Amino acid sequence: MKKNTRIDMVERALTLLDNEDTTRVDAIYLSPVESYTCKDWLALEEQILFRDYPLLVAFSCDLPSAGDFITHDATGVPLLLVRDKEGGINAFYNTCRHRGAKLAKGCGRAQTGLTCPYHAWTYDFTGNLKVLPDPVSFPGVDKAEHGLVKLPVVEKYGMIWVCPKRGKDFDIDAQLGGIDKGLVDDLKSYQFEDYHPYAQRRLHCKMNWKLMLDTFLEPYHFAPLHATTVAPLLYHNLCLLDTYGQNLREAVIRKSIEKQRQQPRESWDIVPDSALVYLLFPNAGLVMQRDHVELWRSYPVAGKPNECTVQMDYYIPEPAETPSAKDHWERNMDLAVRTVLEEDIPGVEGIQAGLSSGAISHSTFGRNEPALIHFQREIAKAIGRA
Ligand code: FES
Ligand SMILES: [Fe+2]
Repeated sequence: MKKNTRIDMVERALTLLDNEDTTRVDAIYLSPVESYTCKDWLALEEQILFRDYPLLVAFSCDLPSAGDFITHDATGVPLLLVRDKEGGINAFYNTCRHRGAKLAKGCGRAQTGLTCPYHAWTYDFTGNLKVLPDPVSFPGVDKAEHGLVKLPVVEKYGMIWVCPKRGKDFDIDAQLGGIDKGLVDDLKSYQFEDYHPYAQRRLHCKMNWKLMLDTFLEPYHFAPLHATTVAPLLYHNLCLLDTYGQNLREAVIRKSIEKQRQQPRESWDIVPDSALVYLLFPNAGLVMQRDHVELWRSYPVAGKPNECTVQMDYYIPEPAETPSAKDHWERNMDLAVRTVLEEDIPGVEGIQAGLSSGAISHSTFGRNEPALIHFQREIAKAIGRA
């Protein structure tokens, strides 16, 4: 984040605090229950948001060395990402050119190439077919034309995006709202390329995939729902919002910001005294905390509007090598995970049950929930249901 932005955001937060105010839009927003319960609505989201858009699939530090690979199945399209010997990143369908077996499972480091577990066709890290056992049995099959099928991929700002549709190239800066705009500046400044993966959690939740992200998009629930976890640390019902195309940055403010009033304006900095929630459209919530970053990604379960899978990745700026560092991060992560797992998720699964019951026709988003409104409106627009 640029220095001016760090200062301006402190000023905005202190002004809102002085006025006992928060960021408000002009009107409430009625979000139709179908958005969370309707199979046709979900089908559009699956076809459009999870096929045509670049999806944030990893941080660069998840694949630091040649041969490092990860697989990704959460969208229903089997993806394989591999770091090659030149340091480039390659994305493929995780689908063997012989008869379609999955080439790799989970994640790991391949030594010399990617060997299919079924009949051992072997590819190099850029996807070229190198070994075809018993070639006499495959007359006319040209190895040069049987490499893995590539997918569009971009690595930038220490992050990796893939579009899970062949040939659908994308401009990630444009998708993030523009190269000279604040969101790209922020991502660039955090230097995620120097981070380290610390922990990962995968969850299956009984809620629409958007509800998981909604829970990060308003601090109006802090005092009632998080009374003993994060409410003592963060102001209730106070947020700043900036939007960047379909994306957004929402700042919720730590009470520790008060001490900055005593400091010279040039030294003000929003980052240590806030949690910055970036909604990277369509399905990634990046939560920048003062000393680490959490990536929460939510995916629909095919055909089921009331279920989702969630992946949380926790990245830290230095590797946790000593026992005291491990202890620090364990405690730190415990608060984040406990808050979401024990408070947000049960609360939101209750919302899903309520919406699925047919009791109400729409959710009512208040003027004080502007990030939620932006997200739902952009989803509805993107699938032609605005
Ligand atoms: S399916 Fe991969 S080698 Fe046969
Ligand atoms: Fe919450």
